[in-house]
Amino acid sequence: MTLSTADLRQKFKDYFQSHGHQPVASSSLVPADDPTLLFTNAGMNQFKDTFLGAEKRSYTRAVSSQRCVRAGGKHNDLENVGYTARHHTFFEMLGNFSFGDYFKKEAIEFAWNFLTKEIGLPKEKLLVTVYSEDEEAFDIWENHIGVPKEKIIRISTSDNFWSMGDTGPCGPCSEIFYDHGAHIWGGPPGTPEEDGDRFIEIWNLVFMQYNKQADGTMEPLPKPSIDTGMGLERISAILQNVHSNYEIDLFQNLIQAAATIVGSEDLENKSLRVIADHIRSCSFLICDGVMPSNEGRGYVLRRIIRRAVRHGYQLGASDIFFYKLASALSKEMGEAYPELVDQLPVVEKVLRVEEEQFSKTLARGMAMLNDTLETLEGDTIPGDVVFKLYDTYGFPTDLTNDVAREHDLKIDVDGFESAMQAQRARAQQASNFGADYNNTLTVDHATSFTGYSDVEGEANIVELIADNAFCERLEDGQEGVVVLDQTPFYAESGGQSGDKGVLRVANGEFIVTDTQKMGNAFAHKGKVKGTITKGERVTSAIDNTNRDAVKKNHSATHLLHAALRETLGDHVTQKGSLVEAQRMRFDFSHFEAVTPAQLIQVERRVNEEIRANHALKTQLMDLDEAKASGAMALFGEKYDEKVRVVTMGPFSVELCGGTHVNRTGDIGLFKITSEAGIASGVRRIEAITGEQALHYVQDQQATLAELSSLLKTDTQNLVERVVAVQTHTKELEKSLTSATQKLASQQGADMLSNAIEINGVKVLIAKLEGVEAKSLRSMMDDIKNRIGEGIVVLGVASEDKVNLITGVTKNLTGKVKAGELVNFIAAQVGGKGGGRPDMAQAGGDKPECLGTALDSVNAWLEDKL
Ligand code: ALA
Repeated sequence: MTLSTADLRQKFKDYFQSHGHQPVASSSLVPADDPTLLFTNAGMNQFKDTFLGAEKRSYTRAVSSQRCVRAGGKHNDLENVGYTARHHTFFEMLGNFSFGDYFKKEAIEFAWNFLTKEIGLPKEKLLVTVYSEDEEAFDIWENHIGVPKEKIIRISTSDNFWSMGDTGPCGPCSEIFYDHGAHIWGGPPGTPEEDGDRFIEIWNLVFMQYNKQADGTMEPLPKPSIDTGMGLERISAILQNVHSNYEIDLFQNLIQAAATIVGSEDLENKSLRVIADHIRSCSFLICDGVMPSNEGRGYVLRRIIRRAVRHGYQLGASDIFFYKLASALSKEMGEAYPELVDQLPVVEKVLRVEEEQFSKTLARGMAMLNDTLETLEGDTIPGDVVFKLYDTYGFPTDLTNDVAREHDLKIDVDGFESAMQAQRARAQQASNFGADYNNTLTVDHATSFTGYSDVEGEANIVELIADNAFCERLEDGQEGVVVLDQTPFYAESGGQSGDKGVLRVANGEFIVTDTQKMGNAFAHKGKVKGTITKGERVTSAIDNTNRDAVKKNHSATHLLHAALRETLGDHVTQKGSLVEAQRMRFDFSHFEAVTPAQLIQVERRVNEEIRANHALKTQLMDLDEAKASGAMALFGEKYDEKVRVVTMGPFSVELCGGTHVNRTGDIGLFKITSEAGIASGVRRIEAITGEQALHYVQDQQATLAELSSLLKTDTQNLVERVVAVQTHTKELEKSLTSATQKLASQQGADMLSNAIEINGVKVLIAKLEGVEAKSLRSMMDDIKNRIGEGIVVLGVASEDKVNLITGVTKNLTGKVKAGELVNFIAAQVGGKGGGRPDMAQAGGDKPECLGTALDSVNAWLEDKL
């Protein structure tokens, strides 16, 4: 019987419905309220609580066709996709379920009848496995169903004890296998050849009996239950008489569509299979609300998309292509899953943006990888290459591994991990702006920070340091460090500079120029006026004007971060920052220069959010809670369990320990002053806020005003005026050149009257003044034309050099060569020349000799003519 995949799905549901099963729609790929699960990976997931007895339903039998993703998490098939006949990132699981209703006997009966009667599989092609201790199941298969003993295989491993995850419902299972025939390599389950493709598992019947606890103990379920799962694609392959899942109607249609889009004709190509597989997981994940990102589910999605894009590149796709396949999928599966149709525009958009982003670095990354492969010795791609591909070009490691596998190579996972560690350590070091004393002294106190709310306070001096040693007292004029038990001074961290200010004591004051962390203590660095003594009480006051300016810049970095992500994409993450009173600097990941239009947009968005005047909210929460709320955390940063979350309206949520404005409006104005690349894939924006930004704008305006006044126009017409001035200057240059040429030609004509005759040949020898070297040639041409037949020598002496040109009309070059003539003269003025027989030029550095040299020409010519 040949059934389409869609018909088979329906037939399964109908069969079980007719046996009292409630049809239940597939649940989302994002499991609801189940932190133990990355993606829905089996039909039973949505019934987990029902099995456990925690949720009651109005029915005790159910049937479903569940969409599943097995990429990441306990059940992960991503790396096998494209390499085997039956692995997928996305597949549909047909399942029937009993919640304390029927158990093993009926479950086995239903399965057998469906396979052999409903869809007519030949009994002799089937064999089954049971868990080795499950005599009951063995007995049912043998005596009730009548499967010959030798076709019931006992398996003792976890292969026949199914569990949903590390915890949750589980139990022994019995699997049904189909024999694709002796022409395909492979052995029955439990044999060394079982991984071959001949015997394929089609249906798994799980006899749910336990709830596995985190410590490994098995609690019995309230009632024994049934969970089954049959891969729709596998059973379709059997019914359509094909061996590979990729040959079934649904996949062939997708492969055909993919081939058309990328312009490939080789329908057997492995890459087309990968793409056809991946469009399904990606589209369904996006429909279920997963967005590409750098962590968790979003990162798995990103990895799958990038893997698909790389395979398209492999096939020679010349443009972005992957998103175009989403509509082919919605045609193929939209009837069973209407969300594919409803959400098609969203799916296309998300895929498109992600693909565009990755395409920018893909080719460069592949070029680097190919270079590495060409020179590679051994069978392993080094960890630093894998890391560079990951860090600079956005290649997830499984993508690099995929390429490695195509070349029978491995990747150095340990090397990659240590490169990653090294980068984290560098980032950490870069944020430890430790002064020398930090390294040599350990302060045992923990200073408590009061500066989120206070700018002044009282405290005790718990430690004094001078010249890298603890001391009891600091004298007038001495530089040192004061450690207090509590302080409103912010110690430099997270890119925000340390506070300045003053600590007052009875007999003097300590001017704080910087505050740094020393372990858990805050070190106030500065200089004493009067004396201060350890143990004394101080009144502390930060320089609030300075702090205010810092706060503005710090809050603005958060807005900038969010605006960059909004404008350039989610690949933008913070790579470093510096927040001072005068300016801010923000480093972020991005692969090309930010265009002027994008910069304007970013600046505009930040200022809009400033004007929205959001009240800043800061909250302490658990790290997990914070991440769940969507707060941006820095990659590779280690956070405490309790973190501070800074929120500015709906626009920005970040983990941050810094000090901030009360409302975004306090920032005043935000102005970007520069954008540049600082490392491969890392850009830097410098910007200013508040008073600084105002000064900057005013300065620029003053410059414009000055320019306008110099150019006698107003700022509106300045550009036009500058263009006009430039055009005018060019015109002047042009007319000056032509006037000079005319003048020279006139001089030439005048000079002709001075020509002499030597042996019947007209000869003009002239010493000129104020003629530019570049005019000499045209002047010579001009004179030669006028002279008809003859020889011309022109020399120009300026302060420190001589320019010579000689011309001989064609009919005379047999007797006199211009080059020889010019060299004869040049030799006398400290130079050398060259040129054609009819025209030659030379220079020299003895202008004082030019007169004599020219005088000698007559005699030289008399010899030749
Ligand atoms: N939950 C079982 C499986 O996924 C049926 O194999």
